[in-house]
Formats: sequence, C-alpha cells, structure tokens
Amino acid sequence: MTRILIVDDEPSMRDVLSIALSDEHYEVVTANDGDQAVALLQEEPFNVVVSDIRMPGLDGMGLLRRAREAAPDTDIILITAHASTDSAIEALRLGAYDYITKPFDVTELKITIRHALERQMLRRENVLLKSELTEQHLFDNIIGRSEAMQRVFNLIQRVMDSSSTVLIAGESGTGKELVARAIHYNGDRSAAPFVAVNCAALPPQLLESELFGHVRGAFTGADRHKEGLFEAAQGGTILLDEIGDMPLELQPKLLRVLEDRRVRRVGSTSDMAIDVRVLAATNKDLRAAFAAGRFREDLYYRLNVIQIDLPPLRQRGEDVELLTQHFLSELSAEAGKRISGFSQQAARMMQAYDWPGNVRELVNAVRHAVTMESGDVVQAESLPAAVVDADASRQAAAAPAASEPAREGPSSQAQPSPPARSLSEAGFELQAHLDEVKRFYMQRALVRADGVQTRAAEILGMSFRSFRYYAKKFGLGEASRDG
Ligand SMILES: Nc1ncnc2c1ncn2[C@@H]1O[C@H](COP(=O)(O)OP(=O)(O)OP(=O)(O)O)[C@@H](O)[C@H]1O
Ligand SMILES: [Mg+2]
Repeated sequence: MTRILIVDDEPSMRDVLSIALSDEHYEVVTANDGDQAVALLQEEPFNVVVSDIRMPGLDGMGLLRRAREAAPDTDIILITAHASTDSAIEALRLGAYDYITKPFDVTELKITIRHALERQMLRRENVLLKSELTEQHLFDNIIGRSEAMQRVFNLIQRVMDSSSTVLIAGESGTGKELVARAIHYNGDRSAAPFVAVNCAALPPQLLESELFGHVRGAFTGADRHKEGLFEAAQGGTILLDEIGDMPLELQPKLLRVLEDRRVRRVGSTSDMAIDVRVLAATNKDLRAAFAAGRFREDLYYRLNVIQIDLPPLRQRGEDVELLTQHFLSELSAEAGKRISGFSQQAARMMQAYDWPGNVRELVNAVRHAVTMESGDVVQAESLPAAVVDADASRQAAAAPAASEPAREGPSSQAQPSPPARSLSEAGFELQAHLDEVKRFYMQRALVRADGVQTRAAEILGMSFRSFRYYAKKFGLGEASRDG
C-alpha cells in the first residue's frame, strides 16, 4: 500500500490533507513537525512526504536534508507560501521532488503525488532490470551450478562495486582470471582499463619497471621514460597474477604502493597518486609461502582483505557436464560441425576424470574431441589420451582376476568392480548381466552422492524417475534418501 506522510504544524491543514489523500486510498500518517517526521521516516517506509516549509523546530528544508539520508527512496513535496522564494528553488536543488504554493488546490497536490509514484515505479523496474543484466553477464561467461560456484558468484556480486583488494585463490585453470575480469567489468570501474600482469614471468628488475615504470637513465637500457602498469590502470583495476611468485625484494615496494596509493617510477624522486583497484591471484598457498619465508606476512594481510576460493573442478562434479555441454556447442559451432553430445561411455569418462588442469584442461579436451570426432556424437576414442588412459587404469585397478564370473545376486552388497563375464560356449543371460552392471554402478553412485538419489541419478546421466525405478527393483532404495 502506498504510504504518505503529512507534516504540518497547523492541525487544520493536516486534517484537510489527510481526508483528501485518504480518499485516494493512500495510507496517511501525520506529524506535527520535522523532528517527529524524521523519527517516523527512520522507522517505517513512506512513498511520499508532503511537508510545509515553515514550521517551528526542524523546518521543511531541514527535514528535506535529513530525509535524503534517512529515506533516499522517499519523494518529498514541499509546500511554500510564495512560488518564487529562494527556498523553493533551494528545495529542488536539495533533491525535493517538487513544491506547491499556497493557496493550492488539492487536485494539484494529488496529481503531483501520482507523478512521483509513477516515477518510483519506473525506478524500481529499472533497478530490477539492471540487476538482472548484471547477473546475466556474470552467468554468461562463468559457467557453474555447483554450490561452490554459487558462493563464488555471490562473492563477486558483493565485491564488484567496492574498491577493496581481493585475493583470488585456486589451482591453475580454475578460472581466476575470469573471475577477476568479472569483478572489473561488472563493477563501477568497468569503463577504465583492466590490466593483468604475471608476477612470475619477469626477473625482479624488469617486473619492477613494468609495474611502476621508470625514468630515462634509471638503468642501462632505460633510454626513455616508461609508464608503469599501475599508471596504465589508472581509474581501473590491476590484476597481480601469480602473486605468490612476486620476488621477495619487490614485496616491500608493492606493500608501500598498496598502503599509500602512490607509485614512484624507478629512478624518479617523486611519487604519483594512483586510483587503482588491486586484485591478486595465486595458485599457491600464500600462507605456506610466508611460513616458508617466501612471502611477507604484512603483504599477505594487505592483499587478503577478501578471499575468493575457486575449488578445483574435481570437487564440483556437477559442473563438469555443464561445462562440457557449453564448450561442446561453442566449439563445434566454431568448427562448423554438428556434434550434439557425448556417447554414454565418453560422458562417463569425462565425469570420472579428475581434471588436474581444471577447466582449462576440460576446454582443451572438448576442443580435441571436436577436432577428432567425425560423427555427430563424441565417442570415447575421440577423447584426449589422458582421459582415456586414466579410465583404463581405473578399470585395471578395480578389475578382479581376469574373467572371474560374478556370482552375486541382485541384492548383494557393493562389489569392488563391475561384474564382468566372458562369453562362454554356453552363452549367458545378457539382460540379467546388464542389470548386475547397472546395479553395481547405481550403488557406487549412491555412495558418492551420500545416498541422495537425485544426485546419484545425475552422476550416471539417468533420469530421477528411472533411477528410482531401478533402485526399487534392485533393492537399493532402503539405504538411501530422495534428493
Ligand atoms: N567456470 C568457468 N566457466 C567457463 N569457463 C571457464 C570457467 N573457469 C575457467 N574457464 C576457462 O578456463 C580457462 C582458464 O581460466 P583462467 O585463465 O581464468 O584460469 P586461471 O585460474 O587464471 O589459471 P592459471 O592459474 O593457470 O593462470 C579460460 O579459458 C577460462 O575462460
Ligand atoms: Mg590465470
């Protein structure tokens, strides 16, 4: 319901306005002076305040100032005795929505209020639209539905409009640079440059002049002035990548820049003020690095105001399929191919692989598969050797003595390896054997999914309905819960 606050020291005026506005089905509250109005505004939301300018105590102008702070979304309409007074103009300058002059017609006030409410509605829609766009941008290029990635998205959203230093930690290929870019391009510095520098790539002296710049003659070969990357990132963001490899002798200089927000070119005698947001990324455990004396503790704490941890891909299995599908459609379109998916075996191998190179390795694996595959479904043979080999050695490690027939019935405990049978002269019941194999993997998946059937079904690429059906059939239901 729309809420209006009327502020006037004259009781008759309050009554007239109350009755007129209640007729419009607004909820009307009244206050005798500015102070009482401010107290009310601090407690409850109002859409519009209608206030007289001249009042004892806190007057209309004072109320306007306080209200802009206490309730910035509330529109203020002031009532003044003379149209052309300075105070009317001053009121607009201070952010009043409008003013009306006495004596006034209530209809005029009603129209003004209606306009204010319309604008508020537009503003709310706009804010909504904006936050949807931002979200979309984030979700556009960083793929992930795992809980761990949801946490990352959340953190990005919380830090992107601030200027605080953020340390992004994660194994190689987990998307640290991607996250850094998302923070920059979704934040209010997006129009200014994003500059990334790899602290591990250069020898100390070069890195120093790269970061801070140098003046002519600073060292042999410095034949002209050079702007540093901190200067180049002015107004924007700098990503200090592989910060764990920053040479120890440069660390105090970096610390000074972070503390003073000033840089000094190598060889120069004067400082320059910089306004640059610092993001740092590391695939090393910085804590361990400073314990070992390779990283300054004070710099660590200065950088690590907020930390975003990117979990390795093997710890977010449900993202593997999503990423695989995403890159498959992107890369197969790029290659002019129409590959719609992965064979069950190939999908299983991708899912079981432990991705030491994380998302980067997965992208490369999909690219490899797209290049190699000539059909419209990726077969296991088209996957990179690392993925296929890992699968083979897993099978070998799990396999029992070569062709020992499986004897367990359908309700036995989980076995260490899938039931395997050789095709003897006598032949065997294929369907029963397949059921055994199915049961074997379902049980394993249930263990991996902590008994949650929906998740176990996902792991096996089965629908929940069919998983539930077979779980019941095989007597797997009792020990497990539904998702
Ligand atoms: N969640 C994700 N969604 C989509 N693509 C991703 C995701 N994570 C990483 N990538 C892609 O994987 C590749 C590696 O990511 P990025 O360069 O950000 O990793 P990194 O953590 O900085 O690695 P390194 O430590 O080796 O520098 C990039 O091509 C990136 O676009
Ligand atoms: Mg990187």
